[in-house]
Amino acid sequence: MAKVTVVGSGNVGATVAQYVAENDLADVVLVDVLEGVPLGKALDLYEASPLHGHDRKLIGSQTYDETKGSDIVVITAGIARKPGMSRDDLLKTNASIVQSVATQAVKQSPDAIFIIVTNPLDVMTYLAWKTTKLPSQRVIGMAGVLDSARFQSFISEALNVSTEDVRCMVLGGHGDLMVPIARYATVNGVPLTELLDADKIEALAKRTREGGAEVVALLKSGSAFYAPGASVALMVEAILRDKRRLLPCAVLPEGHYGLKDLYVGLPAILGKNGVEKIVELKLAADETEALKKSASSIRENIDAMNKLLVTA
Ligand SMILES: NC(=O)c1ccc[n+]([C@@H]2O[C@H](COP(=O)([O-])OP(=O)(O)OC[C@H]3O[C@@H](n4cnc5c(N)ncnc54)[C@H](O)[C@@H]3O)[C@@H](O)[C@H]2O)c1
Repeated sequence: MAKVTVVGSGNVGATVAQYVAENDLADVVLVDVLEGVPLGKALDLYEASPLHGHDRKLIGSQTYDETKGSDIVVITAGIARKPGMSRDDLLKTNASIVQSVATQAVKQSPDAIFIIVTNPLDVMTYLAWKTTKLPSQRVIGMAGVLDSARFQSFISEALNVSTEDVRCMVLGGHGDLMVPIARYATVNGVPLTELLDADKIEALAKRTREGGAEVVALLKSGSAFYAPGASVALMVEAILRDKRRLLPCAVLPEGHYGLKDLYVGLPAILGKNGVEKIVELKLAADETEALKKSASSIRENIDAMNKLLVTA
């Protein structure tokens, strides 16, 4: 029986637990520092199991004992930026949360694959990799699957075709500088560039880049969680079922795309070992430039975090 630990039982964490159980992928342990909350949410989800027809165990806990021997650990623990809080304050707070969570989780599950969700995503994934000291193949960030799903949704809406037929990948960091690669987007094999003009494609790419903010503006408090939760569940499925899916994930390149020493969104094959391979696509000059720019911004944030952690 596969076992998935989800740390942080907030909006994203609880949704991950829900989809992992409903899709009959694994037993789930939900961990949070909040008293009662992970236990209550796990119990509520367990009570839905007869309705969804699965026999997955769902356990909530405030400690890590129950997480022992997990196949996958998903880290969603963190705080969202509050009014008056600087980006550095958020970086420092979430960095210390991710450090503490990763340290405790890897002690119980040294063989697990870690999927990081906490923002700022690429930087937190780098920190989790440094903290756990696991091979980079086993520490992966979730962002590209979500950003690509947003791009896919907007493309299918614009063309009035099924989302099932739209394939595309968004690379780069999980932020304003993400890089939707329209040239490789297709509708059941037909290049998107033959179906929509460049201005329309750029408008959809822009909406994708601002996709997170669009949801936040409507929700007023909190950020997206259904699509993020489903994105994590897709990655969990690819790993547990060794599907070898080609998905954009935050990974550690070793010279791929001329990049190294940082986590950034690149096409990767996900299977039972985590990142089975980073796939190098031939990018156009402007795409390479955009990816480099996105990577430089991540590197600046990693440097800022390292300084903040030294002075903490
Ligand atoms: N990578 C992505 O694409 C993506 C998408 C959506 C959200 N996010 C990020 O995911 C994170 C979670 O978002 P959310 O909407 O679920 O937030 P949330 O506030 O609903 O949940 C966060 C949970 O983490 C818990 N937590 C805090 N410190 C903890 C600790 N030390 N140990 C265990 N639990 C702890 C909190 O108690 C809370 O329940 C945020 O950082 C958000 O920005 C990333």
